[in-house]
Amino acid sequence: MEETREQWHSRAAFIMAAIGSAVGLGNVWRFPHVAYSSGGGAFLIPYFVALFTAGIPMLILEIGLGQRMQKGAPLAFGAIDKPLQWFGWWAAGLSAAIVIYYSTILSWSWVYLWHSLGLSWGDNPEVFFNQAVLHKSAGPGEIGWPVLPLVIGLALTWLTVYLILRKGVRSVSKVVMVTVPLPTILLAILLIRGLTLPGSMDGIRYYLTPDFSRLKDPQIWLRAYGQIFFSLSLASGVMIGYGSYLGKKAEIANSALITGLANCGTSFFAGFVVFSMLGYLAKAQGLPVSDVTTSGMGLAFVAFPTAISQLPALNAAFGVIFFVTLLTLGIDSAFALQEAFTTGFYDKWCIRPEKLARVFVLFAFPISLIFVTRGGFYWFDIVDKWICDFGLVVSGLIQCIIIGYLYPVGEFRDYLNAQSEVRVGMWWIWTLRYITPIVLLVILVVNLFDYITDGFKDYPRWATLIGGWGSVLIWLVLGYFLWKRPAKSEKGQGE
Ligand code: PHE
Repeated sequence: MEETREQWHSRAAFIMAAIGSAVGLGNVWRFPHVAYSSGGGAFLIPYFVALFTAGIPMLILEIGLGQRMQKGAPLAFGAIDKPLQWFGWWAAGLSAAIVIYYSTILSWSWVYLWHSLGLSWGDNPEVFFNQAVLHKSAGPGEIGWPVLPLVIGLALTWLTVYLILRKGVRSVSKVVMVTVPLPTILLAILLIRGLTLPGSMDGIRYYLTPDFSRLKDPQIWLRAYGQIFFSLSLASGVMIGYGSYLGKKAEIANSALITGLANCGTSFFAGFVVFSMLGYLAKAQGLPVSDVTTSGMGLAFVAFPTAISQLPALNAAFGVIFFVTLLTLGIDSAFALQEAFTTGFYDKWCIRPEKLARVFVLFAFPISLIFVTRGGFYWFDIVDKWICDFGLVVSGLIQCIIIGYLYPVGEFRDYLNAQSEVRVGMWWIWTLRYITPIVLLVILVVNLFDYITDGFKDYPRWATLIGGWGSVLIWLVLGYFLWKRPAKSEKGQGE
């Protein structure tokens, strides 16, 4: 079996792929927004605390589990105890759900790449985004038809994902050598442009000046943990799947550390790019930095286009650079998510990577069309909220309980230490047994309480029931069937 399982080209390829999956749109579109609305620089404290008390320990756990079992999430958990395979499928199902809505942001990015050429958003990028790009309807009940340019963007996204995944992790090994460094270089170009603009320092100051009083607000801490989970692609089977393609002797803990630090470093760095531009924008519009934008999506698709239009020169070129950055950031997260889900099929039924990639895309593309309809934005918003705030949180919690209590975690630590360049101390077990699950439990309770008392934004309950709970719970049903379906017999290429 070991001989036939695919493997990364090299350790560097694995680390690049892991960084590629972690570093995504979240670093540019979510992180600066979360930081911005959580007290600017003060947010960095809970963020880095979350990284070390939950992010890195979970990364070590996931990569280590995948590597040790040589299986993606479903069969890796199934190897611990048979019924846990059900949980593994559910967690991997969340990644399928994420890639289906995550592809929408990539489709917007394609459309904006096109519009950058003529700076078509004109003087009012907000109206442009809502009306000309999204053709937003009045609410989730009014779905309407898919919007053609977005459908084209979506088709391009899925086609790219298919082309990259059809040869399995071998082609991923090559692609990430481009999709990881390229956006970093592009971000650096944008940063130089940003920092040389008037007003940029006000933005940076806003970003970095810590408002320590905000640290008393538990919500800020919860947000930091939530952001770490999303950003490091945890609890969705992604890192387990990628770890499963490591060789039997592969290094684990140091690779996890490098991945975690590179990801958060990129977020921090992207914050400079975003805030230098926001500072410039504020100055140009004569507003305080805190007033130039409000919503997360608005940051990438409204505030940035506004700033780009106001640049003194080469506006279209900077527009193109920005949207190519978003596309290259997002694409390697997208294929990592898809791989997390399809790895389970590769493990269990020995299905070829090409067929898996094709069949998945053929299913996922039509489903993702929902998010590019006129009401699609609202569904996107709801599904994103539920998958991240409920799905990933519960999945992370269960994962900690399984490894911390149902699995010989001490022996697992010895295994990791025998494999790793850096020592995994006892702290690792404590974080998995106590800190991470307690924090996740609190997040879950708070989120549930908020939902029960206030609902979610102005969305009607039926919409949150279908889109929110539906997208999280349907994987319990599908996961059950996938678990119960017998595995392919010993013959053939795998097992
Ligand atoms: N980490 C990715 C980002 O920051 C998103 C992601 C979440 C990818 C979960 C995989 C799994 O954009």
